[in-house]
Amino acid sequence: MKVLGILGSPHTNGNTVLLLDAVLAGAAAAGAETEKINLADLQLAFCVACGRCYAVGECVHDDDAEMVKEKIGEADAIVLASPNYINSVTAQLKTLMDRCSLQIHCQVWRGKYGAAVATAGGSGEEEVAEYANAFLRVCGAQTVGVTTARAAGVGALQDQEAALARAEALGKDLMAAVAEQRVYPEQVAANAAFAERMKQLVLHMAEHAPFQYDYWEKMGWL
Ligand SMILES: Cc1cc2nc3c(=O)[nH]c(=O)nc-3n(C[C@H](O)[C@H](O)[C@H](O)COP(=O)(O)O)c2cc1C
Repeated sequence: MKVLGILGSPHTNGNTVLLLDAVLAGAAAAGAETEKINLADLQLAFCVACGRCYAVGECVHDDDAEMVKEKIGEADAIVLASPNYINSVTAQLKTLMDRCSLQIHCQVWRGKYGAAVATAGGSGEEEVAEYANAFLRVCGAQTVGVTTARAAGVGALQDQEAALARAEALGKDLMAAVAEQRVYPEQVAANAAFAERMKQLVLHMAEHAPFQYDYWEKMGWL
């Protein structure tokens, strides 16, 4: 089983990565093959809302976003990690999210599991992590939980030992969810309602966005 961690912080040795690495270590201890991607090391252009992905299944940009999405596609579980930047995720992670619009319309990450971690200087870390998980759910995944911590300096967390232990436990639970194919009934219901909205959107856009229409048809969802 594969678990992919995606770090949205520009600090690849900062606070957030401590939590992400601990989640991945927990998953690895439970038998996962883990991989980490630092978005800060990649080329990621902004979505320009041209609609080309909906129409032909390809982006106008030829950069690293497609590689990241391929790796997500190969993973059983994804862990998103971001510091709180003005009560949201970093621009790096948000840019990746915006580049996943087709993946949302096509609900491509159904059957996957996710979790999120966030850190903050003083507040908002829970909301940021919940926001990251909400993104995974609109792509079709189920989310297992979040873990958060506040900064105590550069590369240091408040109550670090306890924070890392919670993060490791989340990684183990993520793996348990994958292994038992855990079902979260409230998320399944919310995902089904959201997918129905996507279906109506795909039908409405069919003439100008044949790629996503064909995908839904091929999946037998229309
Ligand atoms: C641009 C920017 C915006 C930030 N916004 C907030 C904020 O709104 N609330 C907060 O508590 N901390 C904020 N912080 C602090 C970071 O969330 C915090 O230091 C975090 O642990 C940094 O993680 P990192 O080392 O992984 O980058 C901000 C930091 C930066 C650089």
